[in-house]
Amino acid sequence: MSEPVIDLAARAAESALFIKRSVPAVPPLALVLGSGLNELAEGVQDATVIPYRDIPHFPVPTVAGHAGNLLVGRIDSAGLIVLQGRFHYYEGHPLEVVTFPMRVLQFLGVRTVILTAATGGIRADLRPGNLVCLSDHLNLIGDNPLRGSNDTRLGTRFPDMTEVYSKKLRAVAREEGKRLGINVIPGVYACLPGPSYETPAEIRMLQALGADVVGMSTVPEAIVARHGGMDVLAFALVTNSAAGVLGTPISHKEVLDAGKKATPLLGKVLRRVALRLSDP
Ligand code: HPA
Repeated sequence: MSEPVIDLAARAAESALFIKRSVPAVPPLALVLGSGLNELAEGVQDATVIPYRDIPHFPVPTVAGHAGNLLVGRIDSAGLIVLQGRFHYYEGHPLEVVTFPMRVLQFLGVRTVILTAATGGIRADLRPGNLVCLSDHLNLIGDNPLRGSNDTRLGTRFPDMTEVYSKKLRAVAREEGKRLGINVIPGVYACLPGPSYETPAEIRMLQALGADVVGMSTVPEAIVARHGGMDVLAFALVTNSAAGVLGTPISHKEVLDAGKKATPLLGKVLRRVALRLSDP
């Protein structure tokens, strides 16, 4: 028996149409909020809040600390879409589902996606509260969201990944961080499937591979966003030292609390970056 064929492009187009009909205008910038960072959505003005469950074909999150709303609004003069709550591989979703929101953004005509995530700091100088701007990644999920037949309406078969995280946008993030007195640190993100945190031996392995931070999200979305022709900027908030770095256990609560605590810092940087992008 052959696999049922799911027309991802048609589904994403339907989701996008629903969103377009729900708002006066669709901004070209989108922000995806990671664990513990949901409160960043509170800074969005004149927001139209669309629950994920109301959007045709949209998945619904299962993790505590992850809301499920799409917001369309603005930060001062910068219009933006905010995805409050994301989907993870560890929840059991196939990567096609994890990255479905990126396809919807693509069909909405979004040009730039800013991804945010809570991460463990591997590099010795990284501390909880530090803000890392991804310069590159290691996809160690053991899967790829583009696996399977390629639909050319979505992108090319073998997309280039030389510069997943736009050099230009990274420079903007660093500049705006500097103006605010916030050190925006470049780093390489290793993406593991989770949901267990890593062992100290795994962290030593990741360190040897060149990773600076570790997490369980962001990379599938970044791959799909690039496949779909969008520019990507990604921030990894260090919420904890990775396993074995300090020898203390890691808890989800610690991750969420650190995310909450750093929300104002990340909010300041995001505001400035959004303003720069809306008025280059
Ligand atoms: N490992 C993996 N994912 C994470 C971590 C971590 O230490 N902290 C926050 N997300």
